[in-house]
Amino acid sequence: MSDLSTRYMGLELPSPLVVASSSISNKPENFAAAEASGAGAIVLRSLFEEQIEAAETALEEAVSFQADANPEARSYLPPQRIGPREYLRLLDKAKKSVKIPVIASLNAAAAGSWSEYAKQLEASGADAIEVNIYQVGADAAVTGEQIEAECIQIVRSVRKAVKVPIALKVSPFFTSFANVAKKFDAEGVNALVLFNRFLQPDIDLDRMALNSSMQLSHPWEMLLPLRWTAILYGRVNADLAASTGVHDTTGVVKMLLAGSTVVQLAASLLRNGVTHLAALKTGLDEWMERGHYSAVADFRGSLSQKEARDPRAFERAQYVNLILSQNM
Ligand SMILES: Cc1cc2nc3c(=O)[nH]c(=O)nc-3n(C[C@H](O)[C@H](O)[C@H](O)COP(=O)(O)O)c2cc1C
Repeated sequence: MSDLSTRYMGLELPSPLVVASSSISNKPENFAAAEASGAGAIVLRSLFEEQIEAAETALEEAVSFQADANPEARSYLPPQRIGPREYLRLLDKAKKSVKIPVIASLNAAAAGSWSEYAKQLEASGADAIEVNIYQVGADAAVTGEQIEAECIQIVRSVRKAVKVPIALKVSPFFTSFANVAKKFDAEGVNALVLFNRFLQPDIDLDRMALNSSMQLSHPWEMLLPLRWTAILYGRVNADLAASTGVHDTTGVVKMLLAGSTVVQLAASLLRNGVTHLAALKTGLDEWMERGHYSAVADFRGSLSQKEARDPRAFERAQYVNLILSQNM
């Protein structure tokens, strides 16, 4: 058996396979099963800024109103909404069920008093906090610079509130992602989770209405986080966590080769059940044995841009070559 142990944000994980923040990690009955199947850590489902603020103002309607304003909040919210108090109970259950690290998740669009809530999560035993920044730059009056500044404010407020490690889950929609990643890194985030997967509303022609249902990811979607992981590996202090489109062992291996410290899984566990982790773990172990790698660290990042024989493959040059070589 190869050594799958992984150090993520200073936490010791038995494997690089992490249960992503999702409906899987909202159910206490999944915690022990995930650990037994080989999970290295669990990221709990997010507590949304809107939920905290609604609880603070004690206005139940505010949740529905605010959730309407943030479509992601609406799509992710469990059928029975859990408020801050229930979230602490979920965290407590998780901590009592498993030995692997439990990472609490906060989902925010702007800095606010809710960040103080991170302190309560820390006091209640969260081993780390993942902050999911969800902003849609749909306001034509707001510049990219302003959005970046807002994100930095969110990071600062949480960093100031807690001592536990912070992971920042971000969207890929920044003009210069490498630049903004460096800025987050400079704020002292311990990990960057690449990427947040946005809800993209569709149009239902039968109902002549918008369809905002949650569609699970497809394997090809992993190419975007793969590229950015490979570009950032070795260039930021923060660990890199892959999120989106990893469904099988080959996806896990590719993300690690690109430079991910851990690989987060949601859709594949929703489709196949939490025990799918065991198949991924066995697959990773077998792949490592075939390649004579005794530890994950032996090959992590070996196909990152920094280490690759053709670093240009991750940038524009390869695109130009490919387009010019097509006879279609
Ligand atoms: C049903 C469901 C609920 C989710 N809830 C959250 C959440 O509360 N917070 C969060 O940061 N991400 C949430 N996500 C996003 C996942 O963590 C992950 O980033 C995304 O699904 C892409 O990974 P995947 O391809 O492995 O599914 C959710 C995803 C799904 C499918």
